[in-house]
Amino acid sequence: MANIVVSGIRPTGNLHLGNYFGALKSFVRMQEENECFFFIADYHSLTTHPTPGDLHGNVKTVLVEFLACGLDPEKATLYIQSDLPETAELYLLLNMNAYIGELERCTSFKDKIRTQPQNVNAGLLTYPTLMAADIIIHKAHKVPVGKDQEQHLEMTRTFANRFNRIYNVEYFPEPVAYNFGENLVKIPGLDGSLKMSKSDNETSAIFLADAPEVIRKKIMRAVTDTGQPDPSKPRSQGVENLFSLMRYFSDAFTLETFKSAYATGQIRYGDMKKQLAEDVIRFTTPFREKMLALAADESYLSKVARMGAEKAHASAAKTVREVREIIGFKHF
Ligand code: ADP
Ligand code: TRP
Repeated sequence: MANIVVSGIRPTGNLHLGNYFGALKSFVRMQEENECFFFIADYHSLTTHPTPGDLHGNVKTVLVEFLACGLDPEKATLYIQSDLPETAELYLLLNMNAYIGELERCTSFKDKIRTQPQNVNAGLLTYPTLMAADIIIHKAHKVPVGKDQEQHLEMTRTFANRFNRIYNVEYFPEPVAYNFGENLVKIPGLDGSLKMSKSDNETSAIFLADAPEVIRKKIMRAVTDTGQPDPSKPRSQGVENLFSLMRYFSDAFTLETFKSAYATGQIRYGDMKKQLAEDVIRFTTPFREKMLALAADESYLSKVARMGAEKAHASAAKTVREVREIIGFKHF
């Protein structure tokens, strides 16, 4: 039997190269061999109180970008979390056996208390129960997530096992992290940081949707080092990052050329950046073109969303019906 795989992405803006290589590319591969449910986590995004317009716009952006990256609505179930209200019911039921103490100990919650003390809402506290509901509603076996989500996945296992134990059933499988071959991929940032990220610094990230001139500008401004290149010293993190990016986007000959220029102290970072920018643009252009076409095709997007909601509903409604029975809800 094929594994059931579930993963969600919060609609917080455009996808950058890190998201593509670290997640989307693997999702595209997974949809070939597993029964995949990929969704846009818009209930989760309410913890930050987006305006109605922003919320819808962000969901559309992610849907368009998922499709442009190659997620195939015929192969995977591609849906929007809020189109599946069964998730909210399972979340409510799981919350009855989720303890305040364990939720308060969650690292992501503690981080939020520190970073946004003015908005510590109950949705943040129960973020892990909602995430658990997302996962076990499809009785998932595997969840492809980054390292920062490991604790949430651990809590999902706790809630699933606890349900089984309380009701003395073997109903929910224990979901484990999906270790895809490339889970060690880490795309570095243009600002000298080890990980490209949209949250750290706007200028760190290159988005798949960036226009060529934007990409050129960002790369030309990337951090390198000061003074003359000195091959006897280890490369600065900024320079190291440019070489890493070249490994992904440039051909082997180009990379070798700049490596030997570095080794002889003759490298010109301006030339290297120009070359890298053109290579990145060559990579992103087909994605960008697909995005522009998809974004203009509202009827296709609505068909995809409807189809995903229907498929997700078939799986979720069955789970919630069975869970209600196990709990002891009965119709008169
Ligand atoms: P961001 O750090 O920009 O907010 P998210 O935390 O929303 O990105 O990440 C969404 C997905 O993309 C996760 O699976 C994460 O592991 C992956 N990802 C994000 N940045 C990178 C990166 N620089 N390299 C590899 N994978 C990344
Ligand atoms: N919490 C995840 C993140 O911030 C997003 C998410 C929500 C998710 N529900 C999920 C991921 C279920 C995997 C499975 O990245």
